[in-house]
Amino acid sequence: MKRSEIIIVTGAGGVGKTTLSAGLAVDLAEKGLRTLVITVDPARRLADALGIAMLEHNTNRPTRVAAIANLDAVMLDVTASWEAITVRHAKPEVADRLIGNPYFRAVADRFPAAQSYAAGEQVAEFTTSGNWDVVVVDTPPAAGGIDFFMAPRKMTELVGGRLLRWLTGSRVPGRRILYRTTARPMLRLADILLGSALLEELADFLLDVRSLYDGLSARAASIDRMMSRATVLVVTTDSPGPMREAGRFFTTLPEIDVAPSALIFNRALPDKWISARGPQGATDLDEALRHNMDRWSSEARRNRDARTAMAARLEVPMATVPWLRKSPVDVEGLAAMVRQADGLDKLVER
Ligand SMILES: Nc1ncnc2c1ncn2[C@@H]1O[C@H](COP(=O)(O)OP(=O)(O)O)[C@@H](O)[C@H]1O
Ligand SMILES: [Mg+2]
Repeated sequence: MKRSEIIIVTGAGGVGKTTLSAGLAVDLAEKGLRTLVITVDPARRLADALGIAMLEHNTNRPTRVAAIANLDAVMLDVTASWEAITVRHAKPEVADRLIGNPYFRAVADRFPAAQSYAAGEQVAEFTTSGNWDVVVVDTPPAAGGIDFFMAPRKMTELVGGRLLRWLTGSRVPGRRILYRTTARPMLRLADILLGSALLEELADFLLDVRSLYDGLSARAASIDRMMSRATVLVVTTDSPGPMREAGRFFTTLPEIDVAPSALIFNRALPDKWISARGPQGATDLDEALRHNMDRWSSEARRNRDARTAMAARLEVPMATVPWLRKSPVDVEGLAAMVRQADGLDKLVER
């Protein structure tokens, strides 16, 4: 069974990660590759185009995109992922207890590192299934880009780490003994605040989570390896925030053996706008047009300067995707976006 190629699309919020992931996936599928796009927060219309039901609970089952051959899409469901993770790594009775535990649900649903970890584990699941030639991954926004790559380490550290050992004792004590006999001030305080019943659930939760350690840490290491062999595309626009964030990927990720392979500069303005001048007429409309075009001329210049400065500073391949008047929300629009892009093909050539 052949492993899938993996393309991870990352970058700051709002730069076009979800749109570009979908666009790349459409393009790869059109080239005849069996493709899966994993998305996290598609805009409603894009989700409709990909045929992804926006359900509360969608169980991580990929569905065929009707408008195009070879393409499947799935929207990550973090809660469902955590249930699967638990079943995978815990003894059956522990898994049942964890899934029913309110603390576990709260952590799985709301804790950003838990969301990122679940996304990583789900991606590893899909890429080892052998069902797809290529898997395109849109990274979760809640976690803020880099966290997606850090999550496997953070999770191992959390589950096997000092905090949990400190809370539960160095050896795992008999269940339910913990909260009764422990002298730990933290738990005594919790007993006062929560009452015994809730504290029992908390103790159950902490002990059960600790028992996930072996499975989870082995799995985290394989997610790390998956990320190391992925093609990581960092997306930015000409805004200072996203550009700074993009720079951070290139300095931080190599520290954990992930090498971002290229930069995608999205919403690039046409260079020919820089020198375009409006009409030198006498009417108010002429005047307004000229002001408007002067304004966009300077925007286009700023945009071009940002692109060249960034490419020079980072010394990585860069693709540019033009700013489109209408957001691409269907398969045709996505394909057109990729066709108009410059250098995108080369980044994902295999
Ligand atoms: N090249 C582009 N031209 C015009 N609009 C774009 C372009 N790329 C993305 N958009 C729009 O920008 C918005 C944010 O894109 P999205 O893909 O959701 O970003 P992210 O996933 O990084 O938060 C969406 O409305 C999307 O349609
Ligand atoms: Mg998105």
